[in-house]
Amino acid sequence: MSSREPLYEGKAKIIFKGPEDGTLFQYFKDDATAFNAQKKAVLEGKGVLNNRISEFVMENLGRMGIPTHFIKRLNMREQLLREVEIIPLEVVVRNVAAGSIAKRFGLTEGDPLPRSIVEFYYKNDALEDPMVAEEHITAFNWATTQDMDEMIAMALRVNDYLSGMFMAVGIRLIDFKLEFGRVYDQNDMPRVILADEISPDSCRLWDAHTNEKLDKDRFRRDLGNVTEAYAEVARRLGIMKENGSVTEEGSPE
Ligand code: TMP
Repeated sequence: MSSREPLYEGKAKIIFKGPEDGTLFQYFKDDATAFNAQKKAVLEGKGVLNNRISEFVMENLGRMGIPTHFIKRLNMREQLLREVEIIPLEVVVRNVAAGSIAKRFGLTEGDPLPRSIVEFYYKNDALEDPMVAEEHITAFNWATTQDMDEMIAMALRVNDYLSGMFMAVGIRLIDFKLEFGRVYDQNDMPRVILADEISPDSCRLWDAHTNEKLDKDRFRRDLGNVTEAYAEVARRLGIMKENGSVTEEGSPE
């Protein structure tokens, strides 16, 4: 990593100023955290895998007409992004009961939900990302009603596309988390686009036949072989060779 000043350091990524106004670099670390960083580890190679998986997913979503902040991958750990004003919400889409919804409503993990459910959480580590309703979001000006409509519509389109993409490679998309940002067009009109990353850190991915977990729950629940599971996701998506190396080398870090 270079000696550039980070603009923002998160738990798994670092954001630097980009080469031109309105651009950013996103660097993927190997750090893993869970339970609001009470549990921490360094998982060698995780950042490289998430960079590649997120690139693959964001590029495909872009091709489907979903606007994203992703411009291009630069090397093994970095991407060039369009700068956005991050909306301080985590948007979770769930297809199958798992994690916090199973706990909150006493559901059995693995049971399909009656329909896909979209939830909002306020992105605030000090408050442990509390779940919020539209009332809180609009009253506290985190997003407008129109932003929310756009986020929900995009989240459901992402869900449809990703569910099919993963099912084609024998993976069930249980749930995932998205983040969105605002950009302004020539007339200063705000528009919401997809931001952050989509990777096994931010999704629950189960093998469609065995229900084996291929995501960050392996770390949260001490199941072991975390990066091996992420590599398996990359391999099935065709972005990793059978021998374990990623296809088509990026430029050196
Ligand atoms: P949850 O069941 O713990 O609420 O998680 C729902 C989904 O959101 C799951 O795919 C994991 C993802 N997630 C994140 O990406 N970051 C987070 O901080 C949390 C709590 C969940």
